[in-house]
Amino acid sequence: MKIAIGSDHAGVKLKEIIKQKFTDINFTDVGTYTEESCDYPDYIGSVAREVTSGSAEMGIAICGTGIGASITANKFPGIRAALCTNCLMAEMSRRHNNANVLVLGARILGEDLALKIIQTWLSSQFEGGRHQRRLEKIAAIEKSFTK
Ligand code: RB5
Repeated sequence: MKIAIGSDHAGVKLKEIIKQKFTDINFTDVGTYTEESCDYPDYIGSVAREVTSGSAEMGIAICGTGIGASITANKFPGIRAALCTNCLMAEMSRRHNNANVLVLGARILGEDLALKIIQTWLSSQFEGGRHQRRLEKIAAIEKSFTK
């Protein structure tokens, strides 16, 4: 599976840990690569573009709290980014929301919990049915703002 992963400076360490842990995943790391202060929209935008273009199947976006990354990613048409702070949220974001970007707050989560959240997210499947109808309503709202 190809996953785009990106973070600002606050998420660099966690990003490296994730890449080392999930060796079976083909990560496209869009940066940032150092702990020098940077602007999260630059890197989270790159994650979102990888997903919307189809270059990556899913994305993982990390900043300090996950809030800025979540706001940024959800500006992109077709992105359903879910900020998850526990495994139930990760599971439900796939089962009900078909989230295609997982957002993590590196300053909020311990390393072990972050890895468990990712494992849960990757192993959970979208249920479709009534949830598909709801996603289509979200897509229609999105479309109403695009020319
Ligand atoms: C960076 O200091 C911090 O603001 C950023 O990582 C994120 O938490 C924003 O939402």
